[in-house]
Amino acid sequence: MLHVENVTKIFGQTRAVDAASFSVGEPAMIGIIGRSGAGKSTFLRMMNRLTDASSGRIVFDGTDVLALKGGDKRAWQSQCAMIFQQFNLVPRMDVVSNVLHGLLNRRGTLPTLFNMWPKADIRRAIEILDRLGIAEQAGKRAEALSGGQQQRVAIARALMQDPRVILADEPIASLDPMNAQVVMDALRRIQQEDGRTVIANLHTLDTARRYCDRVIGMRDGRIVFDGVPAQLTLAAAREIYGAGAAFREQATSTAMDVPEDAPKDEAYAASLLAD
Ligand SMILES: Nc1ncnc2c1ncn2[C@@H]1O[C@H](COP(=O)(O)OP(=O)(O)OP(=O)(O)O)[C@@H](O)[C@H]1O
Ligand SMILES: [Mg+2]
Repeated sequence: MLHVENVTKIFGQTRAVDAASFSVGEPAMIGIIGRSGAGKSTFLRMMNRLTDASSGRIVFDGTDVLALKGGDKRAWQSQCAMIFQQFNLVPRMDVVSNVLHGLLNRRGTLPTLFNMWPKADIRRAIEILDRLGIAEQAGKRAEALSGGQQQRVAIARALMQDPRVILADEPIASLDPMNAQVVMDALRRIQQEDGRTVIANLHTLDTARRYCDRVIGMRDGRIVFDGVPAQLTLAAAREIYGAGAAFREQATSTAMDVPEDAPKDEAYAASLLAD
């Protein structure tokens, strides 16, 4: 389905992504982890064609994604929806219109100018909001919602495109632990029920282990780990994060073996990985 071959991005002297390769055969939930500057965002942006790669190939169902131009490129971008840490909603616009904006790539700008959408599209937008548990917020301005609700609106907007792949760049980094859980649960459910692939940059090991089928670890632009959560041992985590003595073994292994009923404390897990 998806083949990433030696994808590289060079900014001046920096190899932000350095010959990254991996393949995805079946729809899956994939987490990308790595310290700040490892190249996680740059990689997602190349996949979505927000940033051009310096070299390499990305092939999705036989299509050479990095070679797409014009309308074909826009079609790919709607097949490969993106979600951001800061939600990127239009704050003063109502929720349902924000969701309908997911159709922009497909329908052009005319309906948006007049805020006129076909009834069937509006119905679908509300169904998607309902599926995410926020249909009753449809008429409110986006800025009036909590962070967790806003991120679910962003997911709804992505789903409006009916994407094959959802790319999420630190989708829960701005949320409190409870909202983070709601949003990760929503992404996981969409991935499994709809058979879409989700690739999410995550800032804690804990979240990657809890939610993902597969974890990719990046360090200095390179993929240094690619495996199932059970393979993400302390040694593997050290290799990914490049952590030395400050990487406290006992505390980290606690974070890495969280019992099912343990409180989900993202901030705590993140603090364990800080130098
Ligand atoms: N537009 C740009 N121009 C120049 N350098 C850039 C640009 N974007 C990213 N970089 C550099 O590329 C490297 C990878 O950055 P990237 O944002 O992909 O990392 P990241 O893993 O997403 O980090 P974070 O966890 O902080 O979000 C960094 O060294 C960064 O400074
Ligand atoms: Mg980033």
